[in-house]
Amino acid sequence: MKGKFLISAVTIINEGRAFVGSVLINNGLISMVIEGIHHPNTIDGAGDAEIIDGHGKWLLPGVIDDQVHFREPGLTHKADLFTESRAAVAGGVTSFMEMPNTVPNTLTQELLEQKYRLAREKSLANYSFYMGASNDNLTEIVKTDPRTVCGVKVFMGASTGNMLVDNPQTLEGIFKHSPTLVAVHCEDEETIRTNTAMFREKYGENIPVSAHPLIRSREACYKSSKLAVELAVKHNTRLHILHLSTADELALLSNKPANAGKRITAEACVHHLWFSDKDYSRLGTHIKWNPAIKSVSDREALLAALLDGRIDVVATDHAPHTFAEKSNSYFNCPSGGPLVQHSLVAMLEMSREEKLSPAMVAEKMCHAPARIFGVDRRGFIRQGYHADLVLVDPESPWTVSSENILYKCGWSPFEGQTFHSKITHTFVGGHLAWRNNNFDESHMGERLLFNR
Ligand code: DOR
Repeated sequence: MKGKFLISAVTIINEGRAFVGSVLINNGLISMVIEGIHHPNTIDGAGDAEIIDGHGKWLLPGVIDDQVHFREPGLTHKADLFTESRAAVAGGVTSFMEMPNTVPNTLTQELLEQKYRLAREKSLANYSFYMGASNDNLTEIVKTDPRTVCGVKVFMGASTGNMLVDNPQTLEGIFKHSPTLVAVHCEDEETIRTNTAMFREKYGENIPVSAHPLIRSREACYKSSKLAVELAVKHNTRLHILHLSTADELALLSNKPANAGKRITAEACVHHLWFSDKDYSRLGTHIKWNPAIKSVSDREALLAALLDGRIDVVATDHAPHTFAEKSNSYFNCPSGGPLVQHSLVAMLEMSREEKLSPAMVAEKMCHAPARIFGVDRRGFIRQGYHADLVLVDPESPWTVSSENILYKCGWSPFEGQTFHSKITHTFVGGHLAWRNNNFDESHMGERLLFNR
């Protein structure tokens, strides 16, 4: 139901501050943000609102995840827009930007619009879809509308879905002519091929997954990210580098604030901030990702870069595969794992360990994605903005288990992990889509719009 709600006496975490106040939601929008504690009867216009008691809870803007794979169309045995958008909403993610390595690959404007039509019917969260790039679809890329599409995704390293763009002229063309933000996956193919051959010689087909970060090596990441930055500088491209995984690549980035005309922005993913190569022995192929999870010192460098502004955004690269697919040996096990239901609570757990503040979590997961993509009226708790909001109980421990995992694939690399924070309510555009472990699926999310 898109009703009228007053979230009262809650700690509002927004734009670098944490303060007690109330938020009035009406007609899908935030109609008032009131500082201090006030009796609901004394708040203008709140008379007929449903009151949601926020005592002891935190209110954050809904998370905007700028990198997910929801697998529809074509790979719906792994996941689909309905199942994964539900999991997202239960995790406090109210908007997502989805990747083009679906089947068919999203390589034409018509295929792109088909995904928007599917989402309108099936997605509980707000959505945007990236236009895909190949070695020969520049004529389609240039038709992308910057106001209605989040960006163009370029795989400058092959991953799930065979979408490698490796023709130097095509890359030049995309960086020069893309009408909107170019988001890149950077891993140098030639380096990966050479490393693979080396490890195959040593181990045959039984390569241990702990070799993954040595095959998809730091050199592979650096070489490809460096090329992306060089091309962006040459053509003044609005570049966004996805899922950075090494300390080395951070030297390529500026710590200018994202709203100060920064043309090159960067993302880190929850798995690279949480796990390290020490976890391969425990979790095996379940943490096989591209780019690979690397060393403890890389993880620490990523966190430092998050804090000093070289990395702008935290996202998930939510990339579900079935448990059976993930149980295969190294070469036959696809890379990626599901994360959207657990990204916010994982980052809040890191804030509990004092690695970053809750306000910084809101900055990197809510404000910064809104800012760097120019998302229209989302990502902040401000009057007149869409009421995409997450209510968190920071003292309600729970453990990830097969009973509470909502992904279609039914598993999580966090299984057995206890998180202290729990998402109790999620509003998507003023619709209370998740309340105390229950969904209200009567309203779907909206297409994101961009001011740029
Ligand atoms: O590990 C990954 N899995 N990295 C990617 O870039 C793609 C993703 C997938 O689609 O499975």
